[in-house]
Amino acid sequence: MGVASPSASQGLVDRATRSIPGGVNTAKRRVQPRLCVRSGSGGHIEDVDGRRLIDYHAAYGAVFLGHGHRPVVERVARALEHGVLFGVGVTEAEVELAERIARHVPSAEQVLLCGSGSEATLHAIRLARAVTGRSKIVKFRGTYHGFHDYVARDYLGRDRFSAGLLDAAVDNTVVAAFNDLAGVEALFDAHEIAAVIVEPIAHNAASILPEPGFLEGLRALCSRAGAVLIFDEVITGFRHHLGGYQAIAHVTPDLTTMGKALGNGFPIAAVGGRRELMQRFNTSERGDVWFAGTCNGNVPGVAAALAGIEILEREPVHEHVYRLGERMRSGLREVAARASIPATVNGFGSVFVLLFMDGTVQRYDDLLRNDVDLFVAYRRELARRGVFEMPENLGRSHVMYSHTDADVDLSLEAAERALAAALDSLARHPAG
Ligand SMILES: Cc1ncc(COP(=O)(O)O)c(C=O)c1O
Repeated sequence: MGVASPSASQGLVDRATRSIPGGVNTAKRRVQPRLCVRSGSGGHIEDVDGRRLIDYHAAYGAVFLGHGHRPVVERVARALEHGVLFGVGVTEAEVELAERIARHVPSAEQVLLCGSGSEATLHAIRLARAVTGRSKIVKFRGTYHGFHDYVARDYLGRDRFSAGLLDAAVDNTVVAAFNDLAGVEALFDAHEIAAVIVEPIAHNAASILPEPGFLEGLRALCSRAGAVLIFDEVITGFRHHLGGYQAIAHVTPDLTTMGKALGNGFPIAAVGGRRELMQRFNTSERGDVWFAGTCNGNVPGVAAALAGIEILEREPVHEHVYRLGERMRSGLREVAARASIPATVNGFGSVFVLLFMDGTVQRYDDLLRNDVDLFVAYRRELARRGVFEMPENLGRSHVMYSHTDADVDLSLEAAERALAAALDSLARHPAG
């Protein structure tokens, strides 16, 4: 694929930077080279210069079925004929959605809807503190649970990832290494723990898989100490299984947070959990834990989620994305082997990430061996060849239901050429 003139993109970036700080609406969207998307269709996006890219970023995995997936868009359009938001009582569609989620997600006896994954984790943590009367929560190195102060620790190698945090909030979050059960046990010995919040697959840390016994061990530790186990299934939920990763691992947390693939790009998220815990939210008559949001349960988000769940129920979505995901992972292993460079391919189901390092990844610290310059250079070369994976260190990639075998064929061919070009340019212009 040829490289089009960057004029329209550059013009829009210049204009954006005047009215929007940095020209983007989320911190990590400011990538180099700059990309301004005009449209998306199925498994592709097109930029304002008319370049078409196979899209494996998929909006950080929020777009699961595909861009503009017809049945979802049509369902949303039909629902919008009757209004967008009512802000009082409940609609039949909200009830239907809660029932569907409760039917599929083992831990979700009751469900509340909110607007984003960050809101969902904030609500879940606050609830855990209320029901235990304790303050401290455990999170894991390298995982991400949203932008709020409760979880603003130890992400992408930074102990605190923002200025302006409230010390009291940050200090009440203690950090363990993913897959280190003994480390978590030590934190339980040292502190009164209200909750453990965990991505059951550490997708924000290049998709580290839980070792056998790790999630079960967290379950046992929380049960013994009377702490709340929160599975943050904002990425894994619906993407890996209608019941989330908990349905695959057969480990049932007390609370589950969901988002991203639930809405296929529409802003909707959810908290689900044991009835007796969920009843503490003040949506319930005697509840005392504040739960609110002006746009909660909005019509388009709920319609998109219902349409998506129904598609997952009746079409072979998981079979398709797991198969293409496996093709990507094994194909990339072969590409790296032919280039004779140290590489490991992580991922699960529809998620994949090619890392340039020796050995396997069990802990976040293993990821420090990844060759960051090659990782980013390779992804920039890939974009030049019509395949978009986020050019940021450790970013995972996502197969969508709309991707095809032909997309995978093209992507693996592009990967071969992109890797050769990245190695060549780094040999000629070593970074640093
Ligand atoms: C596991 C996980 N939890 C929570 C969040 C926060 O979700 P949102 O960006 O919708 O607020 C994210 C976002 O990437 C996530 O990956």
